[in-house]
Amino acid sequence: MAEYETHDYDVIVIGAGGAGLRAAIEAEERGLRTALVCKSLLGKAHTVMAEGGVAAAMGNVYPEDNWKVHFRDTMRGGKMLNNWRMAQLHAQESPDRVRELERWGALFDRTDDGRILQRDFGGHRFARLAHVGDRTGLELIRTLQQKAVSMGIDVFMECKILRLLPDISGQISGAVGYMRPTGEVVVFTAKSFVLATGSIGKSWKYTSNSWESVGDGHAMAIWAGADVIDMECVQFHPTGMVWPLSVRGLLVTEGVRGDGGVLRNSEGTRFMFNYVADMFRAETAETEEEADGWYDDHANNRRTPDLLPRDEVARAINSEVKAGRGSPHGGVFLDIASRRSSEYIRRRLPSMYHQFMELAGVDITASPMEVGPTCHYMMGGVRVDADTAAATVPGLFAAGEVAGGMHGSNRLGGNSLSDLLVFGRRAGIGAADHAEGRTGSPTVNAAEIQSVIDDAFAPFGREDGHNPYDVQHELQETMQALVGIIRTGPELEEALGKLEELKEQTSKVSVKGGRAYNPGWNLATDLPSMITTSIAVAQGALNRKESRGGHTREDHPGPDPELGKVNFVQRQTAKRGYLEPISVNPEPLLEMPDELRQLMEEGH
Ligand code: FUM
Repeated sequence: MAEYETHDYDVIVIGAGGAGLRAAIEAEERGLRTALVCKSLLGKAHTVMAEGGVAAAMGNVYPEDNWKVHFRDTMRGGKMLNNWRMAQLHAQESPDRVRELERWGALFDRTDDGRILQRDFGGHRFARLAHVGDRTGLELIRTLQQKAVSMGIDVFMECKILRLLPDISGQISGAVGYMRPTGEVVVFTAKSFVLATGSIGKSWKYTSNSWESVGDGHAMAIWAGADVIDMECVQFHPTGMVWPLSVRGLLVTEGVRGDGGVLRNSEGTRFMFNYVADMFRAETAETEEEADGWYDDHANNRRTPDLLPRDEVARAINSEVKAGRGSPHGGVFLDIASRRSSEYIRRRLPSMYHQFMELAGVDITASPMEVGPTCHYMMGGVRVDADTAAATVPGLFAAGEVAGGMHGSNRLGGNSLSDLLVFGRRAGIGAADHAEGRTGSPTVNAAEIQSVIDDAFAPFGREDGHNPYDVQHELQETMQALVGIIRTGPELEEALGKLEELKEQTSKVSVKGGRAYNPGWNLATDLPSMITTSIAVAQGALNRKESRGGHTREDHPGPDPELGKVNFVQRQTAKRGYLEPISVNPEPLLEMPDELRQLMEEGH
């Protein structure tokens, strides 16, 4: 039997991005023994990639903005697949969460009369994103981290969790992982566990996500028997860098367009005017003049099509490139240089200025940027109760990107930061309530712990197995080519066949060296999560035979009203783990109450 250290808490939060930090703060504030466990160093999380702002209907720039309009925008953006209750709570509570952040020390940009400034973003009716230049996610993390550290919350950094374990009654009670610096095993027990592990984007070749986003939380939830929903709904942010290749996929904030930047093709045409879906026609400008009037002084009420929701813009860019009107490196042009002064660009978008100058040698105050879609966000995830963030297995909670439902089939920019504040807090409360109500000490079976350890160490014992980097490379190529922004049935079938092969290879990878800071081994332990989540995405995409939000089927180009009434729910029942099949079934959406349905129809 392996030796390992153990730690016991009331609440353990796995993941220390915005959602995890916010959940831990709430549980700690309740006086519960709380710990944060994160795979990276504290403060390093994909949260920083929400650069342009946090969406909250505070009405600081447009007094007519309110939660109802935000709710409606969010539901329309998600093409009505959203969990309406999550969208409602999110719209109602996000202004308070932003003000709370400010009380905790966040320094937002200000209006002339000293209130929090709000900027325009895609799909939002009004300028609604509270921001700190183009570094909002960073400020959010900095503030929450300072708060958490000052409260004395225990933090286990550079700790990779491999598996959640139930007690004899089926409640999630333990987590097994290892410390990356030493490779030593660690076992946590707690009365409640919160998953706040972020995204799955590293399974695609071009992504804004960093190395951590391998779908740990999504996969561990599935292996623990929890339901996941909407796994087919993956967001491709329209503007990632396309050049140089070494940084392809790196985010170019939507704030560039929010602050006046426009998209052009190789002919100089502002092509977005040609891609306005019926749903958005009434409120979208039809001419450049009309759009510029809105941009420059908001004189009219019709927004520029450059700020349509992300799914619409990403598809339009894809079509322009396919039609041969792309930029030299396979994107399109994003031009703010010809529209705003150099001083304005450097003040409002300092990170973008430096990013392009240092990585591409492009001065964005003088030249357009080359941009194209990049895998950015996972709308699908753990099925949760909206009010408590409880997953479908007891003792487990989920918040932020790992949770599904809030954004439906497409997320509006800025709604992720407000999501993680609203539901991070709610998950903290839900986990604290559960921990307080639970009697006895959480215990897990030693043989189950040993089996997780044996699986994790197995690659060291294999001679001449597959190289984990080769498997990862093939996986990323497969997902990019066959489960990307535009999908077809035959390609999804092909992807699933390929993923079965990669699953087999994952079970036979071998690594050399010791366990301390061994990146090859670390990757070998990431691959099962990447395989499970990729299969779930491809299965969901194959079953959703329609196009909706971030999920586009070339062979089913329109939305299907019947499929608009269901989520595809995936789960493992009897046999669990990455080698086992995952079932996929349609289940009806939550019924929206009449007053909210009416609100959607009125158009407020
Ligand atoms: O474009 C951005 O700044 C990203 C924001 C987000 O994903 O919410």
